[in-house]
Amino acid sequence: MLNIVANWKMNLSFIESEIFMGKFFQQQPEIDHLNLILAPSFPFLPKLKEMIQNHPIQIAAQDTFWMKSGAYTGEVSPLMLKEMGCSYVLVGHSERRQYFGETDIIVEKKAIAVHQARMIPIVCIGEHRESYEEGKTRNVILQQLERVKSINPLWVAYEPVWSIGSGKIPSKEEVAKVTDLILSECPHANVLYGGSVSIDNQRMFCSIDSLHGLLVGGLSVKLPDFCVFLEKFKNI
Ligand code: 13P
Repeated sequence: MLNIVANWKMNLSFIESEIFMGKFFQQQPEIDHLNLILAPSFPFLPKLKEMIQNHPIQIAAQDTFWMKSGAYTGEVSPLMLKEMGCSYVLVGHSERRQYFGETDIIVEKKAIAVHQARMIPIVCIGEHRESYEEGKTRNVILQQLERVKSINPLWVAYEPVWSIGSGKIPSKEEVAKVTDLILSECPHANVLYGGSVSIDNQRMFCSIDSLHGLLVGGLSVKLPDFCVFLEKFKNI
């Protein structure tokens, strides 16, 4: 079954999220053929848990801290997220690495903490434009995987930084090459692709046999496009 993870990022306020989900259910998109995972902002998690009862949808958080509890003002622990109904947690998204200085060491700590709380870490990795242009994608991927690759279960999302929100995507061959590289390092992992995934390119990604799913940003907070996108997988 194809995994679709919707990363809402810091979009949709609580009220907007509630309206969004109301409209989503009104449209009744057929999703039985997918493993659909929604990742809203922290405040909406409990409400989302309530709203998805009786629907084949799972919940992810967009980030976590690595400690179980304590004097860490402003942070949210994996156990709190587990209580909120999360089954997955995004870790090391490139926006976390870029704006919050998350290093591979921090990403490792977070991924282990998620695992210990019995959720699945979705570790995000990917090269910047410069590395891509210099043909260093392989080195970046290997380095970012090094500290997390033995965690099991593990999902890895390949998100080229230059592709996120840019409308630019790597070729099928390039994605397949990175997916195969990730699987050669972590044969137990589920591999996702993220970066400018759209209704126009979803078919291309589906044709990559080694890919287990997609991590969707911008498109996942747009209706009715997101429903159209989900339903289209039925015929791919
Ligand atoms: P876009 O789909 O908006 O490019 O975002 C991808 C992403 O960062 C998902 O985590």
